[in-house]
Amino acid sequence: MPKNKIEIFYFSGTGNTLLITKAIKDVFEKHNINVILTKMEKTNPKEINKQHIIGLAFPVAMQGTFPLVWNFVRKLPNTKGTEIFMVDTLKEFSGGIVGPLKRLLKNKGYKTIGAKEILMPGNLLRRNINPEKDNKVIDKGIQKAKEYANAIIKKKAKWHRLPFLSDFLSLVSRSKRPWKLLRRLYPLVVDRKKCVKCGICARLCPVDNIEMADYPLHKDKCQYCMRCISFCNEKAISINNKNYSAYKAVPLKAMLKP
Ligand SMILES: Cc1cc2nc3c(=O)[nH]c(=O)nc-3n(C[C@H](O)[C@H](O)[C@H](O)COP(=O)(O)O)c2cc1C
Repeated sequence: MPKNKIEIFYFSGTGNTLLITKAIKDVFEKHNINVILTKMEKTNPKEINKQHIIGLAFPVAMQGTFPLVWNFVRKLPNTKGTEIFMVDTLKEFSGGIVGPLKRLLKNKGYKTIGAKEILMPGNLLRRNINPEKDNKVIDKGIQKAKEYANAIIKKKAKWHRLPFLSDFLSLVSRSKRPWKLLRRLYPLVVDRKKCVKCGICARLCPVDNIEMADYPLHKDKCQYCMRCISFCNEKAISINNKNYSAYKAVPLKAMLKP
């Protein structure tokens, strides 16, 4: 397997995908393969190095993935046979990502060498959090990620394409309307009694949706990655003022790293 460098472009709202990406990196590095981890939201996809083997890692959202991930993939340059693999993390079901992504990448000339979906704890609208249960799911997920990385090394990974249903399901997360509806139904609310105006939420937002005016102000671009809610030290941001529990898989400092 790969003598070249591997560059994994990842997006993680609340840390699950980051943990999985790091587990994959560890396995590659144990095999003396050089790995670079790069945040999708900080990268111009047009400028990626096509000599590297490319990895894509992201969460499932609305049976597909977040618009920012779709946009990243859409803007990847055409190539002639650059090897690429993907991994997504999800609570229970996707359906609208593995197939459509394969087609998109193949049309751009990539060689699709592996796709894996890994179950991790849910991070959306949770009534309560049970760390013990979550940790078991995380441990299993990390184990799966390691097995997947080993399969990639042995050239045994597969990228199965589920046709038709997958293309149909992907329309949900690929179109703008469901996201707009989400913003209407579930507005993010800042509790001014709790907010200490530290600005962490604005720094963390991957789509520059938060303006630090007097208090954080959510504009109309939110993709519901849950980052601002989960990493607010004061628990000052909520959905619709409801008491959902914020889930996070890593500490704030892991998220703030470049
Ligand atoms: C807006 C939103 C939509 C989601 N949609 C799905 C979904 O369709 N299917 C699923 O299994 N999980 C879904 N999830 C759960 C996440 O995919 C899962 O918790 C993921 O591991 C989070 O990764 P992260 O911590 O790296 O952000 C959704 C989460 C969010 C925030």
